[in-house]
Amino acid sequence: MGVYVVTGSASGMGRQAADKLRAVGHTVIGVDVKEGDVVADLSGVAGRRQAADAVLAAAEGRLDGAVLAAGIGPTPGAEGARRIFEINYGGVVDLLQAFRPALAASGNAKVVVIGSNSTTTTPSVPRRAVRALLDGDVDKAVRTVRLRGPLSAALGYAASKIAVSQWVRRNAVTAQWAGEGIRLNVLAPGAIMTPLLEQQLASPRESKAVNAFPVPIGGFGDPGQLADWMLFMLSDSADFLCGSVIFVDGGSDAYFRAKDWPAAVPVRRLPPYLWRFARFGRG
Ligand code: NAI
Repeated sequence: MGVYVVTGSASGMGRQAADKLRAVGHTVIGVDVKEGDVVADLSGVAGRRQAADAVLAAAEGRLDGAVLAAGIGPTPGAEGARRIFEINYGGVVDLLQAFRPALAASGNAKVVVIGSNSTTTTPSVPRRAVRALLDGDVDKAVRTVRLRGPLSAALGYAASKIAVSQWVRRNAVTAQWAGEGIRLNVLAPGAIMTPLLEQQLASPRESKAVNAFPVPIGGFGDPGQLADWMLFMLSDSADFLCGSVIFVDGGSDAYFRAKDWPAAVPVRRLPPYLWRFARFGRG
């Protein structure tokens, strides 16, 4: 049985994942601002450091896996954008960097970061905000989405999830992560019935937007089912999964961009491995 850290373990999908991991006999170190084995506020550098230190001490330097589920939904205003960026991006990236040696110590660790299908279904997310986050410049990211006025909440949220998903994909394939036997992957849910979504549905304006959003299967996702996906992505069956973004969203991502991906990649110069195929083809 393994040792796993789950952030956002007090509610919603994180809570379900922690409960299910414990139910099959794993040790879980739950991290949350509300309650948990480690109570910490991930919206600031100090809280993240405190959380990482406490988790590493409890895990005795070895982690078999991690679920990064702590997060907040679209929040208006400049202060809202800052909190989204700090929690949804910084609260994932800083912790993962701190956990990396402990994950490497397991030799076969798996990490699931909770992204979102807002990454591919929200139009006009400012690329500059995403780049700023990946460059570690939260102030610039906040300035960029602030200029979008009433759209800043949705755009800030999507930007945080795009940045964290790109961070995972960039790092997943490197020597520090894949090379150390650590699989980094993203689970990208659509609207899932958790307290976060309930809060959105309680606001008349937000609920109109949520209910108007196309979901081919209809309805909302179940947090327990999303937790089942997380457990699968943490299991040995997911040994070959690396840098993937798995959409579990009732079909919305496919609805919006069936032709965008997978798609033929335009290349000006053939990469070396393709030359080998070309030569092979000629016999
Ligand atoms: P939730 O609100 O039920 O759970 C989120 C947990 O994160 C809460 O326990 C909360 O206390 C914790 N948290 C928030 N801020 C924190 C902070 N500063 N420090 C430490 N912990 C903090 O929400 P849900 O729906 O389970 O969300 C989990 C993840 O899934 C989030 O990253 C969210 O963005 C993402 N997501 C949720 C969707 C949904 O429809 N529910 C859709 C797509 C993504």
